[in-house]
Amino acid sequence: MKNKREERKHEHITHAVGLEEGPLCAGWEDIHLVHQALLQDDFAEIETGITLFGKRIAQPLIINALTGGAAGLEKINGALARVAKETGIGLAVGSQSAGINNREFRHTYGIVRKINPDGLILANISALVNPKEALEAVKMVDADILQLHMNGAQELLMAEGDRNFGPMADNIKRIVEEVPVPCLVKEVGFGISRETAERLYKLGIRNLDISGAGGTNFAAIELARYPHKGALDYMRYWGITSACSLLEVKSLNLPFTIVASGGIYNPLDILKALSLGADVAAIAGYFLKILVQKGEDDLLLRVKSFQNELKMLMMMLGAKKISDISYVPRVISGFTHSWCEQRGIKLIKDV
Ligand SMILES: Cc1cc2nc3c(=O)[nH]c(=O)nc-3n(C[C@H](O)[C@H](O)[C@H](O)COP(=O)(O)O)c2cc1C
Repeated sequence: MKNKREERKHEHITHAVGLEEGPLCAGWEDIHLVHQALLQDDFAEIETGITLFGKRIAQPLIINALTGGAAGLEKINGALARVAKETGIGLAVGSQSAGINNREFRHTYGIVRKINPDGLILANISALVNPKEALEAVKMVDADILQLHMNGAQELLMAEGDRNFGPMADNIKRIVEEVPVPCLVKEVGFGISRETAERLYKLGIRNLDISGAGGTNFAAIELARYPHKGALDYMRYWGITSACSLLEVKSLNLPFTIVASGGIYNPLDILKALSLGADVAAIAGYFLKILVQKGEDDLLLRVKSFQNELKMLMMMLGAKKISDISYVPRVISGFTHSWCEQRGIKLIKDV
C-alpha cells in the first residue's frame, strides 16, 4: 500500500506530463539575440563546456530536481543519471525528505551517484528542514551542492501542504553555516523577486535557481490533484516569469551564481537565459515528458543534439565560448520590457 507522500510523487509526475502547457509563458519570447551574418569561427573550436560547483560539465545544463522517494521511481532517476553521465551534464534529485524519513527509499535517490560516480550531482530538500536533515540529504547522494527548495506557493495550494513558514529563513542561515557543501536556494516554478534574492543574500546564500513561471505549473498540478470546481483557477497565472525573475535578480548586482529554470525547452532558450546573466540553465518538465512519453533513448538523443545546436547558435552570435554569451547584443520587448521599466530595472548592458 502506498502512503500519501508516495501517491503524491506519482501524481506529480502524471500531471506534469499530462497537463497542457501554460497559461503563462516564461518570457524567452521577449528576448531577441542579434544574428551576426559574417561568421568568423570554426565549428570545431566552439566550446560549450563550463566549470560549475567544482565540476566540468559539457553543456551549461542541469537536469533539474524531479523525483525519488517512492517505489519504482529509481527507474526514472536511473534513466536520468545515465543520460546525464553520457552527455556530461548535471543532475539534481527530487526532494529527499521521503529518503530521510524512510530508509527503504534511499536507493531511489542514491542510484544517481552509483551510476554517475564523477558527475555533478545536486541534492534537494525543503528549506524548512534542519541542518542535520540537510546534511543527510547531501550524504545520501554524495552531492556536490545542496538545493534547498522554497515551494511555499505550492504547499499553500496543497490540501495537505505545510502552513508554517516561520522557521524557513533561520533554517536557511543555519544550513549554509553548518553544511560543508555549497547551498543553492530554488523556487519550483513561481520565480524569485529581487526583494527575496536580497534577503537570501543576507542569509548567506550565494547560489540561486530562479525557477520562474512559464514552464511546469505547480498551481495547475495541485488544482488537478484536488479539483476545486473552478475556484482558485486564477492561481494558474501566479508567479514571476523566468525572464523577469532573472532580470530582477541580476539587477541587484550581487555575486550570485544563477541557475535559470522554468520553461526552458531548447538551446535557444538556454542562450537567451545566459545572455540575461544566468551562469547555467536547468530543465525539469520537458525532459521528464520526453522520458515518460518516448523513453530513455529519445531523451539521450535530444540532450546530445542540444550540444550541436548550442554550437550552431553560438556561431551565429559570434560567441566562441559560453562566457562570451553574456556580451552578445540582445533586444528585450513586450511584457518583459514593461515589467523591467516599472520595476526600475536597467536594460542596456554596460559592455
Ligand atoms: C514532476 C515534478 C516534480 C518536481 N519535484 C521537485 C522537487 O522535489 N524539488 C524541487 O526543488 N523541485 C521539484 N520540481 C520543480 C523543478 O525542479 C523545476 O524547478 C520546475 O519544474 C520548473 O522547471 P521546468 O519548467 O523546466 O519544469 C519538480 C518538477 C516536476 C515536473
